[in-house]
Amino acid sequence: MDNYDLLVVGSANADLVVQVERRPAAGETVLGSDLVVHPGGKGANQSVAAARLGARTALLARVGDDSHGRLLLDSQRQAGVDTVGVLVGGAPTGVALITVDPSGDNSIVVAPNANGRLTPQDVRSAASLFCASRVVSTQLEIPLETVVEVARSVTDGGRLVLNPSPPQRLPHEVLAACDPLIVNEHEARVIAGSDLGDSPDDWATALLSLGPRSVVITLGAAGALVAEQAGARVWVPSVEVEAVDTTGAGDAFAAALAWRLGLGETLAEAAVYAARVGAVAVTRPGAQESYPTTEEVAAL
Ligand code: RIB
Repeated sequence: MDNYDLLVVGSANADLVVQVERRPAAGETVLGSDLVVHPGGKGANQSVAAARLGARTALLARVGDDSHGRLLLDSQRQAGVDTVGVLVGGAPTGVALITVDPSGDNSIVVAPNANGRLTPQDVRSAASLFCASRVVSTQLEIPLETVVEVARSVTDGGRLVLNPSPPQRLPHEVLAACDPLIVNEHEARVIAGSDLGDSPDDWATALLSLGPRSVVITLGAAGALVAEQAGARVWVPSVEVEAVDTTGAGDAFAAALAWRLGLGETLAEAAVYAARVGAVAVTRPGAQESYPTTEEVAAL
């Protein structure tokens, strides 16, 4: 039974954000703007993005029993995410230290904290959420052994969407379960190792040879390349917008794509829609606060 269009398993962070004119070099100090604290984390961002679009969404994550954890739970509930799978305690909530420059680009350092305590057993204990979900989406801000358990827990007929961020080499078992694996160039290079080739088409070939059923390579202003084991390759154009803050735009893209796949769209159709969602997200500050409704996507 499909109670959820999307189950997201992943991180939840308090994003501590400072605007800077430029990032400091090693040993240098720069002054930035006043600090702003936003709800973030790649997992929590994805669940909010999907729920804001109207997807029936659940989040499996771990936060601390602290004010950052409450900020994150409030944000999930306001967006309409089912937080029955959000575990509380064991360590302080994860924190992301983020600088955003005038072009809207960000640099992020994450202290995993409670995210690092989301265990394979937590995943096994949430079996009913997996049984009730059409699509499962995850990332790599939680322990790799937990991601392996997520891949094992996707039910027959279910679908796993993985954005391997921050990237690391992955076991075949995880790669073979991905449909799709969503990567940017940097992530593709880490996942595939040195044998990636020169063009995005080569990258797709190299990545598909590692086992995923499909791959989506995001290329910023150049759009995205969609490649399936059995199927033609499709270029998806980007949507031109004025970027204010790119934080969390990739999470919105992944969430929208996962949701639309669950609705029965082809991978290329879902990627076209996801590109529009990501485009709206970069025009607004923050991660979760920047995510659009379906009406706002239609108005783009
Ligand atoms: O992808 C953006 C997210 O990465 C931020 O919200 C931050 O928490 C880090 O996890």
